[in-house]
Amino acid sequence: MRVVPRELQTPVPCEGREFFIFTAKTRRARRKKGRSLSGLCAFAVKKGVGMIDQLNQFEKDALAKLAALHDAASLRAWKSETFGKQTVLSTALTELGKLPKEERPLVGKRTNEIKRALEAAYDEKEGALRAAELDVSLRADALDVTLPGRPLRRGRLHIATQTLRQICAIWADMGFQVYRSREIESDEYNFELLNIPKHHPAREMQDTFHTTLPDVILRTHTSPGQIHAMREFYPNPIRVVLPGMVYRYEQITARSEIQFNQIEGLAVGKGIRMTDLKGTLTDFARRMFGTTVRTRFRADHFPFTEPSAEMDVECFVCGGKGCSVCKRSGWLEILGCGMVHPIVLQNGGYDPRVYSGFAFGMGPERIAMLKYKIEDIRYFWANDLRFLEQF
Ligand code: DAH
Repeated sequence: MRVVPRELQTPVPCEGREFFIFTAKTRRARRKKGRSLSGLCAFAVKKGVGMIDQLNQFEKDALAKLAALHDAASLRAWKSETFGKQTVLSTALTELGKLPKEERPLVGKRTNEIKRALEAAYDEKEGALRAAELDVSLRADALDVTLPGRPLRRGRLHIATQTLRQICAIWADMGFQVYRSREIESDEYNFELLNIPKHHPAREMQDTFHTTLPDVILRTHTSPGQIHAMREFYPNPIRVVLPGMVYRYEQITARSEIQFNQIEGLAVGKGIRMTDLKGTLTDFARRMFGTTVRTRFRADHFPFTEPSAEMDVECFVCGGKGCSVCKRSGWLEILGCGMVHPIVLQNGGYDPRVYSGFAFGMGPERIAMLKYKIEDIRYFWANDLRFLEQF
């Protein structure tokens, strides 16, 4: 009779049977029950040892399956299959009670050992799979942190917007508030209230886009904002600039576009005179084009101002000597202006016997064209980067 050492508790097949450990307990039991050694062996084969056999086989199979699987889903399936309720591993412990007393510790111990071994194998496999997965994804999305970064292309403001903002900033410094007004206007605001009745020849010059609603149009100039501002601010004094897009139904040429920006200005109060207009606009021109620039006013006509004028600045390209930009005149026309017409003041709610004011309107694209010698107004909205990136 050989006794398997305690450390080698896996039974070893021998003469068609299997050995098991004779613990002090089993020996005692043997004596008590008067069982022969061979009888005891036979019993062990049938009960405890058979169970251990099954457990060992189970462990062997499970480990083999575990070794063969290569993905997380199969690993999950393996886990529920291996540690599920219907396996020898889980039934061994519940069936323990049915085994002879002396076998129970052996089977119990082996069961726990196998459980721990399988759990450890599972953990190890899970770690290996995760590492392999990480390895694959690192390989797939390889990121070389030593590569120099791609520079972010900086955007910039459109040249028309830049000019518009520069002009607004100057007026803001001079105490004029920026007042936003709508681009979709009624015929009444765009024309009537500005002293341009139906059939007035000025309408001819400012044909526009009409909507499907009668008398609702795209504004042809920023001047209707004057009425909105007056109606909002009455009876307070006003100093505003009104920037924004305007529209005209025109043939698109190098000199005319169907949309462009304007900046309107309006000052209303008591005792405002033509000299205020001239001084204020000259101050603006000096801030915009240089402190020594000269200005001149030429009489003109606008229905919404009386008297009306055009303001020229000394050509900032040639300094007044005469060049192609100023067409050899030495002067550049940059805005229209005038004293607010009494009818317009009245339409805004201000009594023209008490209040007076001046107004002006200029086009930032036109000013940018003069400043940068841009020869064709169509460049502004053609979205050609070769043009836009120059500013
Ligand atoms: N609204 C005029 C235009 O579009 C420009 C203008 C001229 C505005 C004189 C004014 C002004 O306020 O006083 O042609």
